[in-house]
Amino acid sequence: MSTHEYRLIATSKSPEDLVQHDRVDVSLYNDPALFEAELEKIFYRTWVWVAHESEVRNSGDFKTATIGRRPVIVVRDKKNNINVLENRCRHRGATVCEKHKGNATGFTCPYHSWSYGLDGKLRALPYPDGYEGILEKSELPLTSLRVESYAGMVFASYNDEIEPLEDFLGGARHWMDLFMKQGAGYPIKTQGEHKFSFKGNWKIQLENTTDGYHFPIVHKSFMSSVDEETSEMLSFMTDEQAVTHSLGNGHSVMVMVPEHVDLDHDDGTEQLQERFAHVTEELSKTMPADQVRRIVRSLHGAGFNLNLFPNIAMSMSFFRVLRPVSVTETEIRHVALGMDGGPEIANRERMRIHEHFQGPFGFGSPDDAEAWDRVQRGSYAGVDAPILVNRGLNREITAENGDKVSHATDEGGMRGAYDMWKRMMSQ
Ligand code: FES
Ligand SMILES: [Fe+2]
Repeated sequence: MSTHEYRLIATSKSPEDLVQHDRVDVSLYNDPALFEAELEKIFYRTWVWVAHESEVRNSGDFKTATIGRRPVIVVRDKKNNINVLENRCRHRGATVCEKHKGNATGFTCPYHSWSYGLDGKLRALPYPDGYEGILEKSELPLTSLRVESYAGMVFASYNDEIEPLEDFLGGARHWMDLFMKQGAGYPIKTQGEHKFSFKGNWKIQLENTTDGYHFPIVHKSFMSSVDEETSEMLSFMTDEQAVTHSLGNGHSVMVMVPEHVDLDHDDGTEQLQERFAHVTEELSKTMPADQVRRIVRSLHGAGFNLNLFPNIAMSMSFFRVLRPVSVTETEIRHVALGMDGGPEIANRERMRIHEHFQGPFGFGSPDDAEAWDRVQRGSYAGVDAPILVNRGLNREITAENGDKVSHATDEGGMRGAYDMWKRMMSQ
């Protein structure tokens, strides 16, 4: 059977046929028709992360982003509201902004110079006589999306009927609050990002953030490149407290460093890492010992990876943002984080940690990307063999709050994400 014929058959399968609790059909990685359906039923229906508030701090600050394949602008207006506007001129459709980020007083389309305010209103157009009596400016603003934020994380949705963001996040909110504690008393800010693409489906990446099973294998070179204390800290494979929670609505969290789940909690027994001795020494000149400990213990970020369906992970010390480009291509941004107003030496150290794993010459992400490419290539063989996500089903428990909990090397996070996929694709 050719790949083409197979695709036609696969798309005639229902979401229930394609996703079972412990396995998914391989066409989820390579069927173009399913990809189109995912844009409509997932990316244009749910809450999609677009920015962190620190990226649009002041009036006029903006960044461009993409929801599914639709370009948008996230911008703070003069009334201090954050707007998410479609990046599409209401005349003949050109994008009105091509910069990744910046500050502006408005957006002027380069094609015929229609100009829009920070709230999206069409303010002016040249040579208006040709429109007299046939065009009402107030009827042609840039299209606005629904916008809500939680813990500084800004989400937008094309769906006017969607539940409030806080309900959608549900049990993930608790972990978002914990994640932000790595600011050690300072607000979190973004401090630059690495962008790359891999030749694979977006769900291969989605699976990876709470895939503890691959860590000691794929990241062997990373583990051999770090000091002993860091390597020990990340050796969670046999640590019973290293667990994954499936949180509902496709969200999940994987705890890798249990003692760093709540960074405000410090019983004083943890030795500060030797590799950070220069930071500890410098900070100790001006800060009390407990604040120094708080900052240094937070340098690696929170002790967990939180995966928010469908496009953002709050992963230890950084954000991982995914953008589905096509059925076989995904763009990833790894956004470094720091302490807003915090000591420079600590923020610099955080950048070095980020580069070491996530950077283009880092020891982590390039290895991940190779594995993801290979999953995509392999998906064209053995079309009847499912993708297995059953690891740990033998030891998964349901916690009192409803979370499904299993070991960090298990695949409960993926099962939760695919349950959500099935629910949304069945609508
Ligand atoms: S397309 Fe934007 S002004 Fe014509
Ligand atoms: Fe990885």
